[in-house]
Amino acid sequence: MTSNELRQKYLDFFRKRGHKVIPSAPLVPENDPSVLFTTAGMHPLVPFLLGQPHPQGKKLVDCQKCLRTDDIDEVGDYCHHTFFEMLGNWSLGDYFKEEAIKWSYEFLTSKEGLNLPKEKLAFSVFEGDQDVPFDEESRTIWLNLGIPKERIAALPRKENWWPAVWNGGPGGPDTEMFYWTGEEEAPQKFDPDDKRWVEIWNDVFMEYNKLPDGKVEKLVQKNVDTGMGLERTLAVVNRLDDDYQTELFLPAIEKIEQLSGLKYADYLKEFRIITDHLRATTFVISDGVEPSNKERGYILRRLIRRSVVKIKGLKIENVAETAREIAQVFIDLMSPVYPELKVHQEKILETIDQEIKKFNQTLEKGLREFQKLSDINGKIAFDLFQTYGFPLELTTELAEEKGIKINKQEFQQEFEKHQELSRTASVGMFKGGLADQSEITTKYHTATHLLHAALRQVLGDHVAQKGSNITAQRLRFDFSQPEKLTEEQLKMVEDLVNQKIKEALLVTPEVMDKDQALKSGALGFFGAKYGDKVTVFTIGPSTPSGHSGSPFSREICGGPHVQNTKELGSFKITKEESAGSGIRRIYATLSWS
Ligand code: ALA
Repeated sequence: MTSNELRQKYLDFFRKRGHKVIPSAPLVPENDPSVLFTTAGMHPLVPFLLGQPHPQGKKLVDCQKCLRTDDIDEVGDYCHHTFFEMLGNWSLGDYFKEEAIKWSYEFLTSKEGLNLPKEKLAFSVFEGDQDVPFDEESRTIWLNLGIPKERIAALPRKENWWPAVWNGGPGGPDTEMFYWTGEEEAPQKFDPDDKRWVEIWNDVFMEYNKLPDGKVEKLVQKNVDTGMGLERTLAVVNRLDDDYQTELFLPAIEKIEQLSGLKYADYLKEFRIITDHLRATTFVISDGVEPSNKERGYILRRLIRRSVVKIKGLKIENVAETAREIAQVFIDLMSPVYPELKVHQEKILETIDQEIKKFNQTLEKGLREFQKLSDINGKIAFDLFQTYGFPLELTTELAEEKGIKINKQEFQQEFEKHQELSRTASVGMFKGGLADQSEITTKYHTATHLLHAALRQVLGDHVAQKGSNITAQRLRFDFSQPEKLTEEQLKMVEDLVNQKIKEALLVTPEVMDKDQALKSGALGFFGAKYGDKVTVFTIGPSTPSGHSGSPFSREICGGPHVQNTKELGSFKITKEESAGSGIRRIYATLSWS
């Protein structure tokens, strides 16, 4: 089965069962400053899991681009990836456990789906704890489908709850589906610790919500969120025990073999890291990220630099050219499904090139520092890694040339200390977030719409949104505009927004066909992918249906928004600057007295 067939089968299966196919959201969350990247299919759907009506209805199916870097150090084995695709079907307050499990089983075992042998499947359910009882219902549904009880394990929260680290937002118990990949017959009893049982799908029964203060409440609706990793499943259905041998990676693996003259089988780890990281790199750049020392940019930088180190490790001469060629393989391979890769092809290749140049300069500088050292302990080795991007292998190699041995244990200790710190930082980030469709960011979101409309009124209709970023402290808005704004123009824009806040305008969502929305004059963010149906948020003196005269703002948007502009307080532009050629950037804050 090819990856296209697998995606299509999944989408078709659920489409035939009343689900609407929705496009993948970008890897960079559009209006959620709290997470760096979309790490699961549920992220872009959080407002709808919390109860906001989705324009496409209550049953959805998609294939979502995801990026996870928590276990970046695991990449190199047969199944870990940073970038991956997640197939998912969704019930937003529609069906629950019974249908979800039945459909999952039907998709796994029928010809219409994956046609996997039933005797190779096993399942897990949530065993319960002091807060939430054993998920007996799911177990009974599996038993009624004819699954022997030995093949159903009841596991603790650590295994069968989503999200595993539940800092906030919607969550709930899940049931997971495993496939036996061993050579011999599958054992009668399912042992979740036996790695030959590979998890391929997860159905989450989301009926809880964790608030920022840690309190757990029932959601207004019961949701189903499922996730099937495309790469893993593709390997399984093709009886491969290595995701990197599937057609999603093989052309890139072959490219490295050709460029290095080395065999994949002899350098599994290096080949896998190079292909994984460069694949992720192409997607991350195509969604607008540039390498930097901060947040998303830092992750991109790490992805590129780690792949460079591994390419150097294979003794390939022209590193930048190699990286570009591999990126090109992924652009060609994936752009039929993700056309944004072709659209941004030049940018992707150029960014990789530039970043590698910078890295080489840094390495040279580091090398000169290195030459000055007479003693290299683990801490210094770690500092070299931190400051100059010297990986331990490289430091070890260079140290050995100087006849110095490095204390690897010491390095490891420093490394773990650092990892702990960055993990805490990213968890903190997460915490602010998923749950944090918080009041303040919601207000900033609505303020952004007012700003957009005000800019168009003051400067003209050429103003169009080019980017937006919201934190709990401020909004940032990029828009097309050839010249710097004058003090006077800025003042007019600021006053206009404040006036609209004072007018206490209503903010009303309305679901309509995309064409109808565009015809009605609603602004759409160019470059965003919309389904057939969209939500239009109108800001005006009355609701859209009872509307007379033209509203102040009409935009296609996923929300969330406040209901009345009077909630926004006082609006202040704090900075105006260039954000590239023909693009200006405004920072603004809200305050409440
Ligand atoms: N959100 C669930 C997961 O990512 C389906 O596994």
